[in-house]
Amino acid sequence: MSKSWDKKLVEIYVEMTRDYQGPLLIDWILEYVKPGSSVLELGMGPGKDLEELQKYYRATGSDSAPDFLHRFRAFHPHADVIYMDAVAMETDEKFECICSNKVLMHLTREELKDSLREQNRVLTSDGTLLHTFWSGSGEEEHEGILTVSYSNEELKAIFQSEFEIVHIENYQEEAEGDSVLVVAKKRG
Ligand SMILES: C[S@@+](CC[C@H](N)C(=O)[O-])C[C@H]1O[C@@H](n2cnc3c(N)ncnc32)[C@H](O)[C@@H]1O
Repeated sequence: MSKSWDKKLVEIYVEMTRDYQGPLLIDWILEYVKPGSSVLELGMGPGKDLEELQKYYRATGSDSAPDFLHRFRAFHPHADVIYMDAVAMETDEKFECICSNKVLMHLTREELKDSLREQNRVLTSDGTLLHTFWSGSGEEEHEGILTVSYSNEELKAIFQSEFEIVHIENYQEEAEGDSVLVVAKKRG
């Protein structure tokens, strides 16, 4: 299992992203997933995406770092947020969409494949996946946290073993084309 973020790392990330206005999942998801659908967000972190998703969807937030969950619950006591590891995905619930924003890149390539197998199990038969990654090649480790970058071709190959790719595009988070969005559906 990949290392869960500790309290110090959670605090650093919250500070680092406090005023950050990057692209959010809601900027894309409305095009692919009907409002009112059940949506599971993996690796919600501080919860900026979740706050927007909850306005349109029956959204459940999740993370494997308990400190992100405690922090979000302190501000949103009634929010639907749960502990979930993106690889083990220990749930019997089904969701019409599973999404994440810069999360699955913290898994090893093998863990990403395991996660997609689990996501296939947890997704409804006409369900949609929407995930973002850093674009590029190679891996780096910082403070014990792995980050893997992917080319579009590599992501296509990995997703296509379980899903049908609906859309893949590069977009800008910090520099032109530095990020990739993948939208995929269950095979019919
Ligand atoms: C770069 S942050 C992104 C947070 C948030 N999605 C955002 O856009 O600000 C990565 C997030 O992935 C979570 N994470 C890392 N590995 C995970 C795993 N195996 N399962 C679930 N969440 C994980 C971390 O706890 C952290 O919240």
